[in-house]
Parts: sequence; C-alpha cells; structure tokens
Amino acid sequence: MARKKISLIGAGNIGGTLAHLIGLKELADVILLDIAKGIPQGKSLDIAESSPVDGFDVDLTGSNNFSRIKNSDVIIVTAGSPRKPGMSREELIGINAKIVKEVSDELIRYSPNVILIIVSNPMDTMTYLAYKTLGIEKRRVIGMGGALDSARFKYRISEALSCPSSDISAMVIGAHSDKGMVPLTRLATRNSIPINQMLSHETIEKIRHETKVGGATLTSMLGTSAWYAPGAAVSSIVHAI
Ligand code: NAI
Ligand code: 2OP
Repeated sequence: MARKKISLIGAGNIGGTLAHLIGLKELADVILLDIAKGIPQGKSLDIAESSPVDGFDVDLTGSNNFSRIKNSDVIIVTAGSPRKPGMSREELIGINAKIVKEVSDELIRYSPNVILIIVSNPMDTMTYLAYKTLGIEKRRVIGMGGALDSARFKYRISEALSCPSSDISAMVIGAHSDKGMVPLTRLATRNSIPINQMLSHETIEKIRHETKVGGATLTSMLGTSAWYAPGAAVSSIVHAI
C-alpha cells in the first residue's frame, strides 16, 4: 500500500523536529518546504542519514518549490516567525497572517483535498484565516494548540506527584493563549483518582499557572519558542489522522 504524503511548510525548529518524528514513527513520506535555500534540503538529508541508525524507512525530500507538495494527504503549516522573550503570540499576527495567507493559496492549488494542520501563531487566528482563505469544510482545517497545552499540563501534574506522565489524564481547552487557555484541573486524574485528593489547592493553582504561561516560560529560556513538545504534539495529531 502506498504511504501517505505529508508536506511540512516551514523547515524551522518545529518543521525539522516534526520531519524527524514522522520519520522515526514511519507515519508518512515527507516533503519539507521552506523559502530559505538549502535548509529544507539539508534537514531532510540529515534526517534521512539517521535512518540506518534508527531503522526507519520513509522518503524525505527538502524543497523550495511549492509544486513538490502536490497531492499531499496532510499539510502542516509552521511557516512564520516565532515568539521572542516578552512577546505575546498575538503580537505575531502582522507578520504571520501574510505568510499563512500566501501559503494557504499555494497549498490549495497543489493539494485541493488536503487536511490542514495550522501551527503558526497566533494559532487560533491563523487557523480561522486559513479556513476563510481556503473556503473548505471546517473539519479539514485543524489548529494545533490544545494537544501541546494538555501535554504541558500533564507533565506539570506528574512532576508535582513524582509519577510517570503516563499515569495522568488531563486536558486543556480554550484558546492557545496565556489568557484564553483553560486547564481542566477539576477533571484531572492520576490512574482515575482526582488530583485534588492528592495535591493541595495551592499546588494545583501553581500547576494551572505554569501550564498557562508554559510557552512564555520556554521562550524566556530559549530566546525563541519551544519545538520538541510542539513537534511531538503535532505528530500525535498526524498519528490520529
Ligand atoms: P522557525 O523560525 O524556526 O521556523 C519558521 C520557518 O518558516 C523558517 O525556516 C522560515 O524560513 C519559514 N518561512 C517563513 N515564511 C515562509 C513561507 N512563506 N513559506 C515557507 N516557509 C516560510 O520557527 P518555529 O520555532 O519552527 O515556529 C514556527 C511557528 O510556530 C511560529 O509562528 C511559532 O510561534 C509557532 N508555534 C506554535 C505552537 C503551537 O502550539 N501552535 C508552538 C510553538 C511554536
Ligand atoms: C508555545 O506555546 C509559543 O505557542 C508557542 O510554545
């Protein structure tokens, strides 16, 4: 059976990490596309050369040419600028709206039946922009934010309980923004036991806060936005598709 084809628009920190994860998990063949010359080609080759070590088998191609994304099953958009320390996601709208609109026009031209995952920030607004630009059914345009925020929430709970994160069930709903994010603390459990039977109110409030500012915390450490957990969160959605 032919493997799925996934195109990644943006070969920066998240695009590169995602290409690697898709390869490791053998989820699909990958086209890595960027306007930067050499970067998508170099990252694709570098990942492909790790395949004999890790034992995976997918085609990885880097390109600067949008025609290479033709007939993709899934396209993931990470193109655009990341946050800098002290910056909100919403402040990126001016730069990234133009990029996401341009990219949306190209991707629908080459892959009219695609399922789209938008990562570029501010993610909720960019997802709506892509949906309006493309005029396709809303079920085919997915924004990635909740999967990442829920992962951060689960990690913070597991850290407080000193237990494996696989013990934790927890979810964040709402917008992918510091103010709009809603960690569902009352419904969070460890092996089906509510966390409020194991953690104090103060600790739970601390976890709620750490989750909501999770992106900003990493941006202040890294000088740019995070990419490992974001890449993993996107790959979990790809896996589900
Ligand atoms: P990055 O700067 O490492 O990579 C972005 C890439 O986009 C660059 O390589 C750049 O050349 C490329 N690019 C710019 N314009 C393009 C165009 N028209 N066509 C193709 N490629 C283009 O940034 P990073 O860290 O990968 O983050 C990407 C985006 O994802 C940012 O907007 C960031 O804020 C967002 N983000 C979203 C998260 C979420 O949960 N939704 C989590 C983390 C980051
Ligand atoms: C994050 O949450 C900045 O949206 C990015 O890491």
